[in-house]
Amino acid sequence: MIEPSSINEVLARADIVEIIGQAVRLKKRGSNYVANCPFHNEKTPSFSVSASKGLYKCFGCGRGGNVVSFVQEYEKLSFAESIHWLADFYKIEIEETERSPEQLQSVQTEESLRILNEDATKFFQETLLNSEEGQTIGLSYFKQRGIRTETIEHFRLGYDPEEGSSFFNAARTKGYQAEILIKSGLVKERDGRFLDNYRGRIIFPIQSNTGRVLGFGARILKSNDRAPKYINTPENELYVKSRVLYGLYQARQSIAKLDECLLVEGYLDVISLHQAGITNAVASSGTSLTEDQLRAIGHLTKNLTILYDADAAGIKAALRGMDMGLSQGFHVYLALLPGGEDPDSFVQKNGRSAFEEFIKTHKQDFIGFRLELGLKEVGNDPVKKAKLVNEIAESIAHINKAEDFTLRQHYTHQASVALAIDEAGMITLVNKYLQDQLEAKAKIRRSTTQEPESEPQNTENPATEQAKSPAATNDERQEWALLKVLIESGHLAYSETESVAALLHNRVDPALIKTALAREMFDLYFAEIGIAKADADPKRAQAFFIHHPNQDIRQKTASLLHSGQEVSANWKKMFGIGTMTEREEIDIRPESKLKAEMFGLAPTDSTVAYISETNSTLSYFEIKKLRNMQDLLREQLKQEADADRIGKLFSLYKQLKKEEQTILETSKTVIFKS
Ligand code: CTP
Ligand code: MN
Repeated sequence: MIEPSSINEVLARADIVEIIGQAVRLKKRGSNYVANCPFHNEKTPSFSVSASKGLYKCFGCGRGGNVVSFVQEYEKLSFAESIHWLADFYKIEIEETERSPEQLQSVQTEESLRILNEDATKFFQETLLNSEEGQTIGLSYFKQRGIRTETIEHFRLGYDPEEGSSFFNAARTKGYQAEILIKSGLVKERDGRFLDNYRGRIIFPIQSNTGRVLGFGARILKSNDRAPKYINTPENELYVKSRVLYGLYQARQSIAKLDECLLVEGYLDVISLHQAGITNAVASSGTSLTEDQLRAIGHLTKNLTILYDADAAGIKAALRGMDMGLSQGFHVYLALLPGGEDPDSFVQKNGRSAFEEFIKTHKQDFIGFRLELGLKEVGNDPVKKAKLVNEIAESIAHINKAEDFTLRQHYTHQASVALAIDEAGMITLVNKYLQDQLEAKAKIRRSTTQEPESEPQNTENPATEQAKSPAATNDERQEWALLKVLIESGHLAYSETESVAALLHNRVDPALIKTALAREMFDLYFAEIGIAKADADPKRAQAFFIHHPNQDIRQKTASLLHSGQEVSANWKKMFGIGTMTEREEIDIRPESKLKAEMFGLAPTDSTVAYISETNSTLSYFEIKKLRNMQDLLREQLKQEADADRIGKLFSLYKQLKKEEQTILETSKTVIFKS
């Protein structure tokens, strides 16, 4: 269990803009920041971060919350793990009860692996830098490869001694069980003995894009035909090969800033480039890029430059993978290094500026590259040429998003010129492949909608679907505005004796709140938070709703706290009651400050603003409800025949009208005339 004081310390320190800025490229817009949402695919930013409110919200997919929920959602961590993650980030010491070996075993495997990998990384680092064997074997190898100490530290590189079980023994002393050690790939069992899997190897920790160690690559030092050059962590709950990119943690800010990502093949390529100051390089670690890896890059940039050595056997396979990049709207470029060189050797030999110059002059866009490569092979063979034309057209058709239309046009033109064929013919061919793709997608969709668990009447009769979900009440705006005030300002003083929450508690009949979720949250507030004035933790209500187990409540809270007033402009025009959004325009006169002081409130503009917002929101709510009752009465009056009843209904109606009038007058008084 984490001590509440530690949680508070983390919450106080965590800067939402800094944390989200680690994950996506934020652009300042007004007082907020915007970005393409990291939780769903999009081309125009609908993800917004408010530094002052400490909240994020995606208007596309609806996800939202505070800095902790972002880490939970983005890193796929629990609340407690996210607090740990943030504490790590800000180097805050967390106070909690010590974990015993027994407890260690009971925490979920993933969390165990996370802790184990961190411990292992420290063990290997320590061994490399401070043990005699580490220095004479591991460190001298790195030095010989031109890797400096600060680079070793930056990438947390390490070494595991040759003696069979050094790490295993250290881990057992710490209380780790053999089972988890084997699952992690750090240890293996042979003839009833436990051996370090990476013994005698230098170690490359593979970090998540936020710095957690997910797994390792371990390189042999001497060339040995019987042992593989690299041993990598097996897939487990934490390490999913297709999702990680080596170096992304160190490269992410630079990728976003330069708006370009360099993709190389090996660990050492990444390390040497970063050491030389080329810090936007990542590695796919010997496989072609996956969709998940592309997506991770795509949050930061859409410009991808692939750097492979010219004689790499895998280049064609890598090229095939690139169609995926085109589908995701990437601009894909390629640069082939001169024969026999890889990025590591090239930059170590020639230095940063020669490297950058080479890339600049040799990088080709992906389609152009394929054209050139293909044309070399085709020669004069008409059959081969026809095949190439089709392949290129199919590739271009992967640029299939409506907004990438001009890019597709550009490539179609380029290809028809290079292949010396009629442009109209090329367009037709590309369109045919586009059509094929659409049909293939439609087929997948059809087959998934025929799955037995989906209810057939939903698609056949949309009317029944609508009838099932209760119609949204037309009072929703007013009801949610009320909840916004309650959650945001409930704990503040409305008067000398009363909090805003107390006022709303006394004035609002819960039965009048017709929107089910709003009613639930309204009741929850008074049950869990209460009506006391500003207690020790003024953000308690917000935290309570933002971390509520019910996802609907969490999301609604985020959107409420993030949005401006939800009362429509029409209402404002009709009644002329000022709302919070207009607070800058409201003339807060000296008298109102005086009044605030009389109530024992700090006479700042913002205290007056939340009080006027409370007043206006409550007024809107009451007027709305009064009007609904008036409508109901009018209906009844039309149908009523009994003269006596008509008289009663009518006087009730007049009374409601009068109440409405009073509210209107007092609310104007409060806001404009006090
Ligand atoms: N790789 C692997 N297993 C192997 C060989 C290679 O997982 N047996 C992956 C590693 O991620 C490696 C990448 O493929 O980094 C590129 O391989 P290679 O160019 O052979 O290795 P480098 O990292 O460049 O190492 P070095 O420069 O020391 O040869
Ligand atoms: Mn290499």
